[in-house]
Amino acid sequence: MNAIFHRGRRLRQSPPLRDLVRETAPLLAEDIIMPCFVVETDNSRFRKEIPSMPGQFQLGLDELEKQVETVPRLAAVLLFGIPARKDDRASGAYAENGIVQRAVRRLKARRPDLVVITDVCLCEYMSHGHCGILSANGTIQNDSTLPLVAETAVSHARAGADMVAPSDMMDGRVAAVRGALDAEGFTQTPVLSYAVKYASAFYGPFREAAHSSPACGDRKSYQMDPGNAREALIEARTDVAEGADALIVKPAGPYADILYRVRRAVDVPLCAYQVSGEYAMQRAAGLNGWIDERAVMLESLLGLKRAGADMIITYYAEELLRQKLVR
Ligand code: PBG
Ligand code: ZN
Repeated sequence: MNAIFHRGRRLRQSPPLRDLVRETAPLLAEDIIMPCFVVETDNSRFRKEIPSMPGQFQLGLDELEKQVETVPRLAAVLLFGIPARKDDRASGAYAENGIVQRAVRRLKARRPDLVVITDVCLCEYMSHGHCGILSANGTIQNDSTLPLVAETAVSHARAGADMVAPSDMMDGRVAAVRGALDAEGFTQTPVLSYAVKYASAFYGPFREAAHSSPACGDRKSYQMDPGNAREALIEARTDVAEGADALIVKPAGPYADILYRVRRAVDVPLCAYQVSGEYAMQRAAGLNGWIDERAVMLESLLGLKRAGADMIITYYAEELLRQKLVR
């Protein structure tokens, strides 16, 4: 009998057949980036679990070092700093002995092969929690923020960062960062730009973790409107034109369509950031026994690869590597 329908099940019959025809490669350890929150405190053994992100910790310098040394096959980290003091110029962000600068020096001294990426933003260091300079009338100044962002990036590079990731969403930041790095001799430091960053409610747990909630207003005047997809391509192309070496799309899962479109619009490496809220939801459901968390995690990350991500920033990095869930 000749079937008149397509028999898709033929190639799904056995694990080897499925492996043979699978279109998306399994996750690789070398493509996973682990975010870390490092706290400026006299107690370098500081270690505090983030309530809305079970399994994630704010770490003092010693604990950060330990974390990085004990996670097997860890290839890359993304550092966020939590300073002891904040002001309205974010001076902690570009201080020579700021917490991120110290963390970078420590990690690179211990593990020169580790790719240390730094988040370059001012919000954690600003008393008002915005990513740029706040004017008296409540608006965020774009152009006067750029030198501070650039100075922050240069200070990270000077400390030994392998790559800097500006996430402030000011216009012209990539050009400013690239120009400042080059002027200071860091022509070989790549810029991983948060090119496509939406004003998302999925950042909620991060703001608790990094103490970076804006005290007034929101970030909608600089982060992107969730309804816009074509605009993502403008942002992506702009950042490449300004000199970005690789781009981030963020959040990841709810914006997989954006990831897919950006993948087709530009040719630089692309990174998906599975953000704090995405992690918190999966984790909460997992802890309640409502989902098979491990399976859901792997499926959510595979989806990002399928959509076009070359690398993934995820709070599941430690678990993926410890439990040997990646190749
Ligand atoms: C700082 C920054 C944020 C995130 C990364 N860098 C927060 C924000 O923009 O409010 C979010 C990360 C996450 O939610 O996991 N600009
Ligand atoms: Zn910020």
